[in-house]
Amino acid sequence: MAVERTKRRGRERLGMKTVEQVRAEIPFLQTGIIYLDSAATTPTPQPVLDAMLEYFQEFSANVGRGLHRATRRATDAFEAARGKLARVIGAKPEEIAYAKNATEAINMVAQGLGLRKGDKVIATVLEHHSNLIPWQRLERTKGIELEIVRATRDCLIEPSEIEAVIDDRTRLITMTHISNAIGSIQPVEEVGKLAREHDVLFLVDAAQAVGHMPVDVRAMECDFLAAPGHKGLLGPQGTGFLYVREDHLHELEPLLLGGGIVESVDEHSCKLVEPPQVFDAGTPNIPGIIGLGRAAEYVLEIGIERIAERERELTRRMLQIADIEHVEVYGPGDLERRGGVVSFNVRGLDHHDVASMLDELANIAVRSGHHCAAPTMRHLGVEGTVRASVHYYNFEGEVEKLVEVLEQVARDFGG
Ligand code: ALA
Repeated sequence: MAVERTKRRGRERLGMKTVEQVRAEIPFLQTGIIYLDSAATTPTPQPVLDAMLEYFQEFSANVGRGLHRATRRATDAFEAARGKLARVIGAKPEEIAYAKNATEAINMVAQGLGLRKGDKVIATVLEHHSNLIPWQRLERTKGIELEIVRATRDCLIEPSEIEAVIDDRTRLITMTHISNAIGSIQPVEEVGKLAREHDVLFLVDAAQAVGHMPVDVRAMECDFLAAPGHKGLLGPQGTGFLYVREDHLHELEPLLLGGGIVESVDEHSCKLVEPPQVFDAGTPNIPGIIGLGRAAEYVLEIGIERIAERERELTRRMLQIADIEHVEVYGPGDLERRGGVVSFNVRGLDHHDVASMLDELANIAVRSGHHCAAPTMRHLGVEGTVRASVHYYNFEGEVEKLVEVLEQVARDFGG
């Protein structure tokens, strides 16, 4: 038994956790649901739940405050998550600032850079609202200029379109790595090079990429990267992080100020602690971050390359729905340019009705609507889509079931 366990651990360290093993460790997926909504959030594996439960039951103390053993243990576990997240994206532990989601991470950059009137920020038409609205606020309140770059019909951004609008006022380029609404993978490495050549900052919204595919902040040459904990990483909801390249750690003004981040304070001034702890004002989501650290280890145990390969295979199968009469699939045909997301509509049917039918007929969970990416929908000339999205734990049979039920729905009600 012990030998078996050791062998299993050895395989897991090498990135050999099988689909069946992962599946068996995710309680929510035992409920009979066919869960194809991983782009919205992912279910939590038992080892991640266990790490959080251990905190609550054994050392449920605050972090960075006090000297008793429980607080020291909590602080160590909380801080250790930085190193685990850093491994996933090729960063250093001190370059990881915790956040409650990717939205907060993006707001940390928008509010923290001190952008001023006349500064220009370049974003794209494929952004999630969380990478659009914070910049719109700066247009209104600070007088920055927000330039939105268009996409191809397949929802891809051409780096040349970005280069064409870089000028000497441009401070930042921000773009999604994978469109959450469509699944198209963007050329972030090429854009990172452009940003470097033009001495412009580069922020990547990697909400749909981290944990789903290899992400390397050095190869992307990005200055900032925002990611949630509760998507590709299989961490708990309410967690996320911002990668801040080390030379910007002191330039970024913290979004929140308050307890837990000061070295000294008098009535009118204070000296703050060093980054990254300076970004942790107030009592943070300690159990969540500890769970997130365990989740980062967990995806490394599966192997991120293996996750990407499997999602590609599942996506290849999902794309069979493009052959169904009355169904239109959006995004690139080339699998290399797609994450594990397929967005579509059935002619003659409202996207919400299709999602409800999949749920009611076969317990298939997908998202419908504008996916918090209304400009992308306008770009496609639709009000919304149905979006099916996968992770490593999905079975081929679940995808086949989606195709089969959708065929029935399109045949009986589409056209
Ligand atoms: N941003 C998440 C999604 O795309 C919630 O569904």
